[in-house]
Amino acid sequence: MEQQLPFILAITGASGSIYGLRLLQYLVEIKQPVELLVSRGARQVMQEEMGLSFGEDLRAELLAHLGLPGNADVSFHRLDNYGATVASGSYRTRGMAIFPCSLGTLGAVSSGLTESLIYRAAAVCLKERRPLLLLLREMPFGQIQLKQMLTLSEAGAIVAAAAPGFYHKPQTVGDMVDFVVGRSLDQLGFDNNLFKRWKEKTPLLSLPNK
Ligand SMILES: Cc1cc2nc3c(=O)[nH]c(=O)nc-3n(C[C@H](O)[C@H](O)[C@H](O)COP(=O)(O)O)c2cc1C
Repeated sequence: MEQQLPFILAITGASGSIYGLRLLQYLVEIKQPVELLVSRGARQVMQEEMGLSFGEDLRAELLAHLGLPGNADVSFHRLDNYGATVASGSYRTRGMAIFPCSLGTLGAVSSGLTESLIYRAAAVCLKERRPLLLLLREMPFGQIQLKQMLTLSEAGAIVAAAAPGFYHKPQTVGDMVDFVVGRSLDQLGFDNNLFKRWKEKTPLLSLPNK
């Protein structure tokens, strides 16, 4: 039987951890194996924005929060574990999303730093020519960040902004989140109908709203 390659999801400390959690929920629902990386900054933002507080078992707590089963195919890695699967290019993956991506992580990845497993996994995706998407959430962008984004785009990464459209007439925050998640999934080659597409009549996917 053909093995389904895992997808790497890194959640970092930009505002909008709701995007990362929604993407995790979607990937688990479609039975996509996930390698999950969560930065310390992301934990703090999740506390501030979503009222989540974490104990020892972050993986279990996130899955429970999303209403997902504890045996979901989600591998969780400590960020100082350079022996983890995703640290090596010979471990095949379908690609990676840094979702959302803080400016700090943007700077590290664009400079080729590897002090965190998140940066190392991103560097691996770039050198192996695998899809890498960074979802930035900042305004305005400074010149330094704009140059870093260009560097990454030239190196093959997909640089995206957490900028929901309004032409699909969103009614809820969830609709806006799903637009950003859905358009990002499009870029990463995951067919999805999380949002209403321009002049398409495809029915929306019904996922529990979180
Ligand atoms: C509530 C909150 C919101 C934040 N929002 C952003 C943001 O939108 N963009 C950003 O780049 N950093 C933001 N930060 C700052 C980052 O979390 C911080 O720079 C952190 O060091 C990033 O580290 P990381 O990339 O390892 O997660 C925010 C921090 C907090 C506490």
